Amino acid sequence: MPVDYAHPEEDRFFNFALELVKKAGRLVRDAFDQPSSNVQTKASNTDLVTETDQAVEAMLIKGLAAEFPEHKFIGEESVAGGQKIEYTNAPTWIIDPIDGTTNFVHRIPMVAICVGLAIKKELRAGIVYNPITNELFTAQVGRGAFKNGFPIKSSQTEAVSKAVLLLQIGADRSEKFVNSFIESYKAAMVKSDARGHRSFGSAAINMAYVAQGCVDAYAEYGIHAWDIAAAAVIVKEAGGVVIDPLGSELNVMGRKVLCAGTRKLADELSGMLTHVDFEPEG
Ligand code: IPD
Ligand code: CA
Repeated sequence: MPVDYAHPEEDRFFNFALELVKKAGRLVRDAFDQPSSNVQTKASNTDLVTETDQAVEAMLIKGLAAEFPEHKFIGEESVAGGQKIEYTNAPTWIIDPIDGTTNFVHRIPMVAICVGLAIKKELRAGIVYNPITNELFTAQVGRGAFKNGFPIKSSQTEAVSKAVLLLQIGADRSEKFVNSFIESYKAAMVKSDARGHRSFGSAAINMAYVAQGCVDAYAEYGIHAWDIAAAAVIVKEAGGVVIDPLGSELNVMGRKVLCAGTRKLADELSGMLTHVDFEPEG
């Protein structure tokens, strides 16, 4: 049976991680204004990594592993470096050192350090920190969601026609993928006359903004666990829903996500998306 409140031990995990994330924020902030000459590509021309991504991930994992030697890690850059994704019952930190690396490289201030904690494959805590705009989103199961220490709530919007939506396309530009995005966009913006569309270039920031209620729903295909794990806890604790775009329970390893302020809005959006299938990771 999943426990629906945070144990004292989890508080210790969370508080330790929070201090590390704040330190990591200083690294990101210091590097942000410097033109990144050392930008490399990973899986494709649109999939970027910088020395800062690597340094931040190494710092977070080193700090957490020293304090919690029995914990496991799934980190974007470690996986890019060849580490296998192993998602087990052990306490597992799911880390994206910089979500929004393209923004970071172009000095667009929408970047986030993401640290999520899963225990027995249940997402228990999340930290999403944008050190440039100084927005720190946090949540633990059963404790509510916060921005810079103040409680946040997702919006109560129930209809796409009243919603500001975020639909986003990531690094994968295969035809199937791009077509699905265009069809979904047309369905939401033209057929259903959504109030507006935004896309911040960071899955975690998109989700954190759904959590704080300034936008109403977000969907994306092709994302990874590190893009969404931390933010998923924040959205749920803010009163929102986070599901598989087809309407079933979220699989954090399933490479797709839909979140919204209300279940009604999530269901309407789910019904108009052109879905793409993925093999789950891990
Ligand atoms: C990406 C960002 C982007 C989303 C991609 C992600 P990264 O993560 O979240 O907004 O569209 O799907 O891969 O590479 O900047 O960590
Ligand atoms: Ca990243």
